[in-house]
Amino acid sequence: MRDTAEWYREFARQVASQSEVYEQWATAVADDDSMLAIIDALPEAKRQPPLVFAVARLLGAGEGDSGDFKRFLIAHAAEVQAECRARPMQTNEPQRCAALLPALTRIGGPLALIELGASAGLCLYVDRFSYDYALDGNAETRVRLDPANGPSAVTLSASAPSALVPHSLAEVAWRGGIDLRPLNAADEGDAAWLTAMVWPGQRRRLARVRAAIDIARADPPHLLAGDAIDRLADALAAVPPGTTPVVVTAGVLVYIPFAERMRLVDAIRQSGARWVSLEGAGVLPEVRERLPQGDHSARFVVALDEHPIAFCSPHGDELAALG
Ligand SMILES: C[S@@+](CC[C@H](N)C(=O)[O-])C[C@H]1O[C@@H](n2cnc3c(N)ncnc32)[C@H](O)[C@@H]1O
Repeated sequence: MRDTAEWYREFARQVASQSEVYEQWATAVADDDSMLAIIDALPEAKRQPPLVFAVARLLGAGEGDSGDFKRFLIAHAAEVQAECRARPMQTNEPQRCAALLPALTRIGGPLALIELGASAGLCLYVDRFSYDYALDGNAETRVRLDPANGPSAVTLSASAPSALVPHSLAEVAWRGGIDLRPLNAADEGDAAWLTAMVWPGQRRRLARVRAAIDIARADPPHLLAGDAIDRLADALAAVPPGTTPVVVTAGVLVYIPFAERMRLVDAIRQSGARWVSLEGAGVLPEVRERLPQGDHSARFVVALDEHPIAFCSPHGDELAALG
């Protein structure tokens, strides 16, 4: 079993450059037996620092210092534990669209997107965002893409090799998906959960998620509740005629145990849909085998129908050529 104090200490080191609040909270937890006892009463998978901290903030912990956090956690221990048990991490990162777009624009449209593990479906609005690509690592050379009706409230900035940057946005006619526990962007409680999963201090990310929530509210996606493998056929059956069905998986397959994941892979292959994936380099065996030689274990890969297109960062803000 994982040592919780060491887990939180390691998390504090990892987040130091991104969230001062979480660094302080995690360091305080690691050094405090009363907080560790509350967290250790949870199953191991539910002790993860981002989940415990997001739940505490959802319940009103605020973003104060570690003393405030300790007082809140001790006063609300049972509520925090109950919410941690009930909720999975469902971080929804629209920034990933900057890495999905080069793959989606290679498919003839209009597209019907079916995202597996969609959370609230914020990555389904790939055609509603603006993009600002810095080409070949040169901040001076940029390509901007806007939706047909003008600049979006969400602009996704990314660096990319010029050969990968599309010339136009994808045409999306329909957006749907599946999640074990779909979030509804129009629901205040679900929207609060989506924003609680953004770490304190990540202001640009918070603004992006909020603006994407507004876009999703205005035109909600068709999300089905259930396991992706059980509901894939239902989702495909809902796709309107005259569109190209495209399954999208982004940062989700790693959460599905290997044998089940491979059953899902088979179901996607047999569905006749195209498939755009943005997953860790080791998550899909066919994709991994098609990568150039080398240790890519820390990288993510964008692939179309299991053929790698580019390496990318986990949130899609950096794209790199394969070789
Ligand atoms: C980390 S979130 C990623 C959300 C979104 N794809 C993104 O990139 O922003 C993973 C989501 O997958 C969902 N999920 C995990 N396993 C699943 C399964 N077997 N079937 C359907 N959804 C699943 C979780 O509920 C969660 O909302």
